[in-house]
Amino acid sequence: MAADPIEAVFETVAATAPEIRAGLPGRRTTLDQQNETGDQQLQADVWADELLGDRLAAVEGIGEYASEERKEVADVGEGYAVAVDPLDGSSNLKSNNPMGTVVGIYDGSLPTGGHDLVAAGFVLYGPITTMVVAREGRPEGYVVEDGQRRSIGPVELPEEPTVFGFGGREPDWPTDFAAYVEGVRNELKLRYGGAMIADVSQVLTYGGIFGYPALQNRPSGKLRLLFEAAPIAYVVEHAGGRSSDGDRSLLSVPANTLHQRTPTFVGNESCIEDLEAAVDW
Ligand code: AHG
Ligand code: MN
Ligand code: MN
Repeated sequence: MAADPIEAVFETVAATAPEIRAGLPGRRTTLDQQNETGDQQLQADVWADELLGDRLAAVEGIGEYASEERKEVADVGEGYAVAVDPLDGSSNLKSNNPMGTVVGIYDGSLPTGGHDLVAAGFVLYGPITTMVVAREGRPEGYVVEDGQRRSIGPVELPEEPTVFGFGGREPDWPTDFAAYVEGVRNELKLRYGGAMIADVSQVLTYGGIFGYPALQNRPSGKLRLLFEAAPIAYVVEHAGGRSSDGDRSLLSVPANTLHQRTPTFVGNESCIEDLEAAVDW
């Protein structure tokens, strides 16, 4: 394994990805329990968390492991903190649509915000397994084969936006956001699949914007800052795009609690500028 702990984390995630994928068919049942943010857990959610937790805790130079699917931070030694969404979009397991794994590596004790991120990445379980890792410079794209990464080159957001996807029920959207989306509809093509990683991968590939807004009855939206929003913002910003909670970069949002939510947007600069000009939450 790589001596550098950050490299070792991504090596470990790549090695575990085929196992996660292979373990999904038998773990599609829902459990009679919820995670900290109130999502009903699937067998696959809990199992992927335990698998990644065990593997990442064993990496030399990792001090903390936290995940969307467990209540507390696990103290696993000395070093960086790793925050994980083990299965992003796990409700897609029922309909057999894509899912992902999200990883953020923080140089600080959790909960802490995206300003402490030193690397972030994700795995996409699509027709093939791919991975994107951001550290310094442009993120690197990979195909994962037999648990090994094969580089497919740097990831850079196209200059022209093409696709958009926003989560939540439209009647629950704030009215200023709904008005902004009317403009987006005239410009871009709708692509929404219900798994952040799969939807963000489309934005990274074709350009555009993905988001999950504040909702009228839930002002912080749905996505979780430490496990989803900040890591994906780190990737998209390194790919030449921007991120926002409606007001500022997601990497500037302070973390007060481990499982806190935030409105989440990532994409081309022009799209994020229009969004920030339109919403007032
Ligand atoms: P998770 O499966 O990790 O809880 O994440 C689900 C998230 C995210 O992946 C996706 O963008 C969003 O929930 C979809 O929500 P809606 O079904 O409300 O659109
Ligand atoms: Mn998720
Ligand atoms: Mn999840």
